[in-house]
Amino acid sequence: MAVHVSQLIQQLEPSATLAMAAKAKELKAAGRTIYDLSVGEPDFATPEHICQAALAAMREGYTHYTEASGIPELKKAVAKQYLTRYGLEYPPDQIVISNGAKHALHNVFTCLLNPGDEMIIPAPYWVSYAELVKLTGAIPVVINAPQSNGFKLTADSLRSAITPKTKGLLLCSPSNPTGTKYSREELQSLADVVLDTDLVVVADEIYDRLVYTSQPFASFPTVRPGLKECTVVVNGVSKTYAMTGWRIGWAIAPNRTFAKAMADLQSQETSNPCSISQYAALAAIEGAQDCVEQMRQEFDRRRRYVASRLQAMPGLSFPEMEGAFYAFVNISQHLGKTYGGVRVDEDPQWCLELLAQKGVASVMGSAFGAPGYVRFSFATSMDNLAAALDALQEFITHAT
Ligand SMILES: Cc1ncc(COP(=O)(O)O)c(C=O)c1O
Repeated sequence: MAVHVSQLIQQLEPSATLAMAAKAKELKAAGRTIYDLSVGEPDFATPEHICQAALAAMREGYTHYTEASGIPELKKAVAKQYLTRYGLEYPPDQIVISNGAKHALHNVFTCLLNPGDEMIIPAPYWVSYAELVKLTGAIPVVINAPQSNGFKLTADSLRSAITPKTKGLLLCSPSNPTGTKYSREELQSLADVVLDTDLVVVADEIYDRLVYTSQPFASFPTVRPGLKECTVVVNGVSKTYAMTGWRIGWAIAPNRTFAKAMADLQSQETSNPCSISQYAALAAIEGAQDCVEQMRQEFDRRRRYVASRLQAMPGLSFPEMEGAFYAFVNISQHLGKTYGGVRVDEDPQWCLELLAQKGVASVMGSAFGAPGYVRFSFATSMDNLAAALDALQEFITHAT
């Protein structure tokens, strides 16, 4: 008897970022020199004191099941962090610790959305949002946010996308893939629309500590009174502490009922996130924060270098990278040309040819709902960046 995949899963798109990284690894394994600018993770080692905390946890026997929604100490540490950094006060039992922020988002969408509900997602968007929404039977409603506005949603376009079926709005700031971030004032104008309606906002703040401009990061629930009650905040340790492999993220719920729903779901689906990783995350949050600043400064150095190189290349445009570690570049002037004898009309093919001909891995804008663009990550060494940008320059200058 044939085994068929369910209809729900058949409509799932595989993660394009992971697919590109896999292709780059394959070429590397075959002996090619590859400059991988497709990655969405810090290239630094997890700081030593965090690794030591994990070793201590193992030795002290914290190697068993924990509370399904995470250890109370970690929830308290997350609550304290949001209080001290942003002045937001949450009881620890409104926090659910998960296997990474991606899992936290899955919990949020599954507990929030009914089949047929609409979730507004500004494009360009991180690849997983729309797929995670579809898994609940709800409908991702994608609104294009133009490059001229730093790829940010405006209050008017939000208002015009709202229908009786709209349940919520997804906001990611600083953004993957665009590298831009919303100012407090921009968030306030969106908040005014939200507060006028009964939308729930899912605020993905995973890049909150990787900000390079003088304007500070604004956590969405802080920008207007009343937002805490209608916002679910998602964050984690992956990007801030170079801990992508440890798989710890969390959702901060607007009330205890919603937190309990997510905890119940998680208790049936995965049980607790890895006990050892939870103790490592605790050490990350409670320990010295100089490692975060050191990594941020290095990302900033690379960001300035990448921006200056890209600006010097003809026909490329991109907004200032204010946060995260990505440049989101408009390549439309370079489409419809021939590269090494191959005519290239669309961004996916452009990325594949750049990889095949020059060994530079990137991610096509189409994967983020933005055809005609390419995402370059600067979470790689200066040497790699320099070589990749030289290769990119050659690629574009020799096109005919
Ligand atoms: C915007 C955004 N949200 C969430 C995640 C998921 O992070 P985690 O590794 O904690 O699952 C990522 C990872 O790439 C991301 O870029």
